[in-house]
Amino acid sequence: MISSFMTKKPENLSIVIVGASGDLSTKKILPALFALYCQGFLPEDFRIFGFARTPLSNDEFRSRITEHLTCRYAPSESCADRTNEFLTHCFYSPGKYESRESFLDLYQFMQETEKSQATNRIFYLAIPPSIFLDTARAMAGAGLVICEPGSYWSRVVIEKPFGKDRESSDILTRGLAEVFSEEQTYRIDHYLGKEIIQNLMVLRFANLVFEPIWNRSFIKRIHIDWKENIGVENRGGYFDEYGIVRDVIQNHLLQILALIAMEKPVTVSSRHIRDEKVRVLKSISPVTLDEMVLGQYTEGITNNISNVAYTREQAIPADSATPTCAAVILHVNNKRWNGVPFSITAGKGLDSRSSEVRIQFRELPENIFCNVPQCLPANDLIIRIQPDESIFLNIINKKPGLDLSLVETNLNLRYQSTFSGKIPDAYERLILDVIEGDKGLFIRSDELAAAWDIFTPVLHKIDRLKIKPELYPFGSSGPSSIQKLLTKDD
Ligand SMILES: NC(=O)c1ccc[n+]([C@@H]2O[C@H](COP(=O)([O-])OP(=O)(O)OC[C@H]3O[C@@H](n4cnc5c(N)ncnc54)[C@H](OP(=O)(O)O)[C@@H]3O)[C@@H](O)[C@H]2O)c1
Repeated sequence: MISSFMTKKPENLSIVIVGASGDLSTKKILPALFALYCQGFLPEDFRIFGFARTPLSNDEFRSRITEHLTCRYAPSESCADRTNEFLTHCFYSPGKYESRESFLDLYQFMQETEKSQATNRIFYLAIPPSIFLDTARAMAGAGLVICEPGSYWSRVVIEKPFGKDRESSDILTRGLAEVFSEEQTYRIDHYLGKEIIQNLMVLRFANLVFEPIWNRSFIKRIHIDWKENIGVENRGGYFDEYGIVRDVIQNHLLQILALIAMEKPVTVSSRHIRDEKVRVLKSISPVTLDEMVLGQYTEGITNNISNVAYTREQAIPADSATPTCAAVILHVNNKRWNGVPFSITAGKGLDSRSSEVRIQFRELPENIFCNVPQCLPANDLIIRIQPDESIFLNIINKKPGLDLSLVETNLNLRYQSTFSGKIPDAYERLILDVIEGDKGLFIRSDELAAAWDIFTPVLHKIDRLKIKPELYPFGSSGPSSIQKLLTKDD
């Protein structure tokens, strides 16, 4: 270990999960809280309050979450004890999201259960975005969202999607700001909590070998690719409203791009990191239709299983034009990146599940090993986000033997085999940061606005012109036009 950072554990803590009956709460938030508990990151005096419309008793709530708690950080012999101890900190209060009275009941229940009058509180809004504002107002109306600087604090966590375009995102930001200040607001993009994404800054700024060549003189193009080999499954209703650009590209993948392209922050403080991300996002030109491809999967067979077309999935209108796959080319207009295309592709119903970043270096200008340009592949740096988090550097080597023949090989760093110990889940990292008040991995409102400015004009144009996506078979590599777009400058 080269360096580590001290943790700032509060004396006490109540975490309110609004929408506690849902998938996110049960499968991600509560297991992450349990992992933090097992590692000693939660204060002794902590409570978790689930809130949702579904009527549940404390015991029913506890048994619902038990099956998703895994003892990754507790020895197996004490697993049951640790689980039972954790569950004694979990409570449930049913109510309606837009009802001040429901939140008054919750508030009273919390005060009866909490030990201290001055308890730090986190409100995690694990609910559909359409009810964020009414819920926040009802919470404020019940006097639940209070803080006393220097004594105790309240923080709110919200999940993407943060709006559907710049305007709706601004409305959401302004509405939430009536209840929670920007300082109290933590906008989660769970991709930023992934270990390998946090490593991007370290890779760039802690290694002398990369920073001097991290620019247009040495890098030819940068490609970010995200693929899923499943369809929309039970998220059809949500997905059809948003589509792949709003669901994945405008947030997760653009955030990765920002970390790759930004200038070195003055320090690693959250303010300085976010300042640089905003600056680079503001230097990206809005996407245009001629640098974009939209696709939608039709039926297809994978592993002898037939998959239905997107328009025949549950909750999807038969005439839906929502893209399930897209490619865009972005241009970062600054001294470092002028002329370097940043391409992003993302799709569902494709041939595999993976996401990675490929940094493609330029060809060697004078190559003594062959007399034609491009006789050897250029170097590539590949950062694989999933599956099997890894970093590869493709280099040219001499193939062992008596003749001089060259071969492309890779230097590889596989997280699972290189780093002993467990790799934390993104939600563990992010929830711990909320508890400790570290905002470096959360999206600031001006960053969100800058991200929407890149995509809003083209999204509006697609809606206005009713542009139909290009069809591709489920299980294929996606629309054929994507390859044409990505290689148009070659
Ligand atoms: N699941 C994930 O991995 C994930 C990833 C990224 C972002 N998100 C975002 O996180 C939030 C929660 O995700 P989720 O998957 O847990 O959502 P969910 O299961 O659809 O909804 C959470 C809870 O909200 C209530 N609810 C659902 N639809 C509602 C409606 N139309 N009106 C009022 N209440 C409603 C339900 O509880 P009651 O009926 O008991 O009230 C439900 O259990 C969403 O904003 C989602 O977009 C989720």
